[in-house]
Amino acid sequence: MKGRVLIAAGSDSGGGAGIQADIKTVTALGGYAATAITALTAQDTRTVHAVHPVPAAFVAEQMRVVLADIGADCIKTGMIHSVPIIEAVAESVAAHGAGVPLVVDPVLVAKGGAALLEPSAMDALATALIGRATLVTPNIPEAERLTGLGIATVDDMARAAERLHRLGPEAVLVKGGHLDSDRITDLLSHPGGIERFESARIESRHTHGTGCTLATAIATGIAQGMGLADAVARARRYLLRAIEAAPGLGAGHGPLNHAVTVTPEA
Ligand SMILES: Nc1ncnc2c1ncn2[C@@H]1O[C@H](COP(=O)(O)OP(=O)(O)OP(=O)(O)O)[C@@H](O)[C@H]1O
Ligand SMILES: [Mg+2]
Repeated sequence: MKGRVLIAAGSDSGGGAGIQADIKTVTALGGYAATAITALTAQDTRTVHAVHPVPAAFVAEQMRVVLADIGADCIKTGMIHSVPIIEAVAESVAAHGAGVPLVVDPVLVAKGGAALLEPSAMDALATALIGRATLVTPNIPEAERLTGLGIATVDDMARAAERLHRLGPEAVLVKGGHLDSDRITDLLSHPGGIERFESARIESRHTHGTGCTLATAIATGIAQGMGLADAVARARRYLLRAIEAAPGLGAGHGPLNHAVTVTPEA
């Protein structure tokens, strides 16, 4: 086991996204996962039925005690849906996680369309967390919201990445899953340059939690000392295998097979 990842995100009762996807991903890639849960969601493969937020001070308390005792080699944030929780997470990172790489997945909406971020919270997310991120991983709608640019092509994704750097993150990964094309390109912009990661779109409805899984897999690579481009490449390989091996559960966007790397004991 190598690489401690602390994840601040919401619980998905369906087990396919959020904290559950995060813990499985870190484990499947040989890392150690710790968590600060920001909200409970009553969620299935179709939609988010209800959200029960955790008080901001208690989110901060989870981060404080874990960072003091266990420590972290990377911190990843997912669903942090309100201004007080964004501020609590940002303050906890600054106070107890100084110098620890930070991956911010700016979660806006769930796969089924449910809003996971209060409208007023996008600005707080941008100033408090994205500004000090090692990597920010927006999908196309999130990149559009954060930059005000329309994105219809991979060149538009590159322009948005350039604009996102103005918020202050070291690196930006614009995920291309939402563009309507047979091949999907994820675009990484970092101090080493711009790299495009391209693969065939897998025809499947089982894509619940792909965004959480990808960002957390990258965070695991960073925690394990991989370079950013290598961490993205491994994360994409893992994600594609997990989509291909999906167990076929639920009536909506079904979960992935996060255990695709695991051989069960006989
Ligand atoms: N059908 C698919 N086949 C192959 N790769 C996919 C597919 N759908 C998404 N991906 C990959 O999954 C990752 C997440 O991309 P996407 O743009 O869907 O993020 P997201 O919208 O944040 O996901 P989520 O809705 O789970 O939060 C990217 O690496 C993308 O290339
Ligand atoms: Mg997402």
